[in-house]
Amino acid sequence: MIKAKPRTKDMPRSIIIDTDPSPDDAAAFLMALGSPDELEVLALTTVGGNVSLKNTTINTLKALELVGRTEIPVYMGADRPIKRDLITAEEVHGNTGFEGYDLPEPKAKAKSGFAPDKIIELVMENEPNSITICAIAPLTNIALAMQKEPKLAKRLQEIVLMGGARSEGGNVTPAAEYNIYVDPEAAEIVFNSGTPITMIPLDCTHKALSTDARLEKLRAVGTPHMEAFYHLLKFNRIFDQEKMNLDGGPLHDPTTIAYLLKPEIFKSKKVNVTISTDYELTRGMSVVDWWGKMNLPINTNMLYDLDSEAYYDLVIERLALASKT
Ligand code: RIB
Ligand code: CA
Repeated sequence: MIKAKPRTKDMPRSIIIDTDPSPDDAAAFLMALGSPDELEVLALTTVGGNVSLKNTTINTLKALELVGRTEIPVYMGADRPIKRDLITAEEVHGNTGFEGYDLPEPKAKAKSGFAPDKIIELVMENEPNSITICAIAPLTNIALAMQKEPKLAKRLQEIVLMGGARSEGGNVTPAAEYNIYVDPEAAEIVFNSGTPITMIPLDCTHKALSTDARLEKLRAVGTPHMEAFYHLLKFNRIFDQEKMNLDGGPLHDPTTIAYLLKPEIFKSKKVNVTISTDYELTRGMSVVDWWGKMNLPINTNMLYDLDSEAYYDLVIERLALASKT
């Protein structure tokens, strides 16, 4: 088990990234690996989401292998939500979840151990408030860890999650964004946990588009892994680009890493967020009390806007640095 070193203020921030790769997830965790002065990636934990747990794990290992970073431990987690059946999104991400560029089957394997247990182990064995979870998938693994270890929520430094929607509306139903829709019970546990949460909803990520110009800039770095990501991200934007009739598709998950690296490029507001779980029409809706009408506790730092040019420059800069090959 990789132990975070004793904390000093100039130490990189220790993070665990919980992920369901499609390419936007992989761009996020590779960006983090390209930022060693600011971030120490303790582990990647996989979950059933965009595609099956088997495929999200294979995609995680493929991405690490592409950049020669298979020293990063990968732990497999839940293959389905806490209470519901898994709803995957092959129509968006393709059958494997990693379409657009052929990568070889990974030689590396996931480590033994169930991801929620590993999250508990890493957090409880390191200094209090020294570990941040970046959640860029349905929140099942984190909720299971919180249920198993009641002390976990208060020991975490923060959860930075891509998910939810306020006035942008959902991308699975009119009410709900995918990561919250798939496992609303898990999201309810996380938002009610008392852990400091930074939420990056569609209201923000829909302003962070993989335009042709930005993808060409990414490709121009000229390294093999950037060429691969040019094709992976180009495929990954098709569904939203056609649906939303935009110049590009949203690059969702790297916003979590960009926030940890440059919070100043985002605009935020502290709000209460409540998750709808009990009514099918609003299943997975993240109800954002923007005007504080309900006098509910403030449980979320919501990012609602960003400097999209600065965001994409950061993505390209740090993704380019991920490779050790
Ligand atoms: O709604 C966007 C989220 O769903 C992102 O995490 C993307 O990877 C997909 O999982
Ligand atoms: Ca994701």
